[in-house]
Amino acid sequence: MSRHVVITGASSGIGRASAQAFHRLGDRLSLGARRHERLAGIADNAFCSALDVTEPASVTQFLEGALAAHGPIDVLINNAGLARGTEKIAEGTGAAWREMIETNVLGLLEITRRALPAMIERKQGHVIVIGSIAGHIAYPGGGVYCGSKRALQSICQAMRIETLGTGVRVTSVDPGMVETEFSVVRFSGDEDRAAKVYDGVRPLTADDVAECIVFAATRPPHVNLDDILIMPTDQATPFHVHRESS
Ligand SMILES: NC(=O)c1ccc[n+]([C@@H]2O[C@H](COP(=O)([O-])OP(=O)(O)OC[C@H]3O[C@@H](n4cnc5c(N)ncnc54)[C@H](OP(=O)(O)O)[C@@H]3O)[C@@H](O)[C@H]2O)c1
Repeated sequence: MSRHVVITGASSGIGRASAQAFHRLGDRLSLGARRHERLAGIADNAFCSALDVTEPASVTQFLEGALAAHGPIDVLINNAGLARGTEKIAEGTGAAWREMIETNVLGLLEITRRALPAMIERKQGHVIVIGSIAGHIAYPGGGVYCGSKRALQSICQAMRIETLGTGVRVTSVDPGMVETEFSVVRFSGDEDRAAKVYDGVRPLTADDVAECIVFAATRPPHVNLDDILIMPTDQATPFHVHRESS
């Protein structure tokens, strides 16, 4: 039977690739992002709507539309997220930190706290969180981004304990370097600087990560993948990256 899969941040990268992958499985999709005009055409049966996870009213409106279109949520993919800049803590001004924490942590909580009660009541449902290698190993210039992704690990652990016995599953999918719009966003539109991140490396694609998300979501109900750490073969840690010189 088809599932109702809700994906935040489906306008680009991992979220978009995941939407395409679940669509191929015949699932019913609800897709949200601020650039909602990009959502049209991903899947013909999808409910597509503007969503800013940092705005509680936007989250409520999006979820109301999703539930009306496709009924109870089976899988919630908390993918919306970003890194902004590379400020060291001593150089920070606060604006980028707030944006990252409001999006990656508080935004995720806003939507999850609204979706979870019905999952608990129905004794089924799957919350999938897109974390990062940055949540496992911190790097200079990424303290707050890394911290936001580290926070997701604790949130996932707590949710697993809080939902124990309800049949609800909680999975964290934590990628290393993936070539998406992530670096263009991090460097506020500087495409040359973003391209240098992937110079000489074969990074993951958004489809590689989407495959892991689909794998987790398609295990039998008694199987929970707690955490999937997926890295490019050419990346061992945020600091150790093999680059072919051109
Ligand atoms: N690329 C990597 O190397 C990498 C590695 C590890 C983890 N990740 C994580 O993977 C997730 C997806 O990133 P990506 O690599 O696919 O980057 P991306 O191509 O920049 O996609 C990010 C998505 O998040 C959405 N988003 C950002 N802020 C939002 C908000 N306030 N409300 C709703 N949607 C919002 C964006 O949509 P709009 O701008 O249209 O709202 C976009 O669809 C993020 O959580 C990121 O931290 C990425």
